Amino acid sequence: MNALIILYSYHHNNTEKIAKVIATSFNAEIKTPEQVDPNDISNFDFVGFGSGVYMGKLGKPLLELADKLPEVKDKKAFIFSTSGRAGKNATKFHQSLREKLTSKGFTIVGEFNCGGFDTYGLLKIGGGIQKGRPNEDDLKQAATFAKNIQNNQSTILYVE
Ligand SMILES: Cc1cc2nc3c(=O)[nH]c(=O)nc-3n(C[C@H](O)[C@H](O)[C@H](O)COP(=O)(O)O)c2cc1C
Repeated sequence: MNALIILYSYHHNNTEKIAKVIATSFNAEIKTPEQVDPNDISNFDFVGFGSGVYMGKLGKPLLELADKLPEVKDKKAFIFSTSGRAGKNATKFHQSLREKLTSKGFTIVGEFNCGGFDTYGLLKIGGGIQKGRPNEDDLKQAATFAKNIQNNQSTILYVE
């Protein structure tokens, strides 16, 4: 069961922490969107797409890669993110990537989100929000998420 993790994370490398846990569980390589040849996607059973949330959306390079992907069949994808507004406030952040992947024929087998330290803009003045996140509990939940998917248990987990 091979997997590829595609990651866009730059603000505080918050999403990278989640990506590493998931990649370890799958024994998968992590690549940036720029490192991925869209035609290589067919070599993997699972493709995980991870990013911070920027202006209400996942990272632009990830969304642009999704546009370049070929049509696929029987291919499983999952989406994970970190954001300043987490939990149930975060469900809409995955929408555009979810729609792009579904239109290419991917089956979305999981979605994960948790808080990520956020010092964007004026938030910096107050020292930021979601300090210390992702925390140990978030990482544990990410590990459970990865295991569930590997066991064919579709999982949607938005950690408050
Ligand atoms: C330019 C920018 C825009 C952001 N916009 C949002 C947003 O719209 N909603 C939100 O909840 N968090 C927002 N954030 C916070 C990030 O989603 C959060 O810090 C995330 O964990 C960053 O992930 P990263 O460290 O992997 O890049 C924004 C951060 C930056 C730098």
